[in-house]
Amino acid sequence: MSTNVKNILAGLRIKIFSDGADLDSISEAYQQKLVKGFTTNPTLMARAGVTNYLTFAKEVLRIVPDLPVSFEVFSDDFVEMRRQALLLADLAQNVYVKIPITNTRRGSACALIHELSHRGIKLNITAMMTLPQVRDVAAALHPDSSAFISVFAGRIADAGLDPLPVMREALEILKPLPKAELLWASPREALNIIQAEQMGCHIITVTPDLLAKAKNFGKDLNDFSLETVKMFYNDSVKSGFSL
Ligand code: G3P
Repeated sequence: MSTNVKNILAGLRIKIFSDGADLDSISEAYQQKLVKGFTTNPTLMARAGVTNYLTFAKEVLRIVPDLPVSFEVFSDDFVEMRRQALLLADLAQNVYVKIPITNTRRGSACALIHELSHRGIKLNITAMMTLPQVRDVAAALHPDSSAFISVFAGRIADAGLDPLPVMREALEILKPLPKAELLWASPREALNIIQAEQMGCHIITVTPDLLAKAKNFGKDLNDFSLETVKMFYNDSVKSGFSL
């Protein structure tokens, strides 16, 4: 990653987290001090070929001993979810346990969130997309317990809706909770980093690919246009096109 990207990111107030489960990318982002935390999820882990959850989690925590790392419970049963949450939280002090806002039967996780938060367990409430969900979680959290509130802005946008009003209102709802941080999850374009920064969102979690696009922030658009023209030209030459 270029020094340029590093400098650009260092100038932002928002905390950038890296979203992924590829150990090499996690290690690179950590060593280059590019991000302030890491998030994973079962889908990203499956995609990265992880087969042993605990071995993977321990390896990530060996690479990242001192920044927040989120690991998600994966049971559909709240009693088992609770057991997994306690086990994950015990792995290290920098673990944030990801709890989905409901199980697959639409059962609310808020009772479990209330219990874990009141035990002082650091949480990352995930797969959230609506303001009633944010209100319910805010009511369940202990004000002195750390939590990330992961609202999937990109998936809201995938549904054809503007996520900005939702994110702004979520920030208002969370104001009385000093240790609850709004996390912009599932960004879809580099612009989302700027949007999240401008509205005062606390955290945005981005994939390494999206993060790399930050190298273009502030670029002169005439230069960017020329670069694009050159790309088309060079690829045509390389391909030997003729008409
Ligand atoms: O890790 C949560 C989130 O950022 C993944 O988002 O919508 O691209 O699967 P999505």
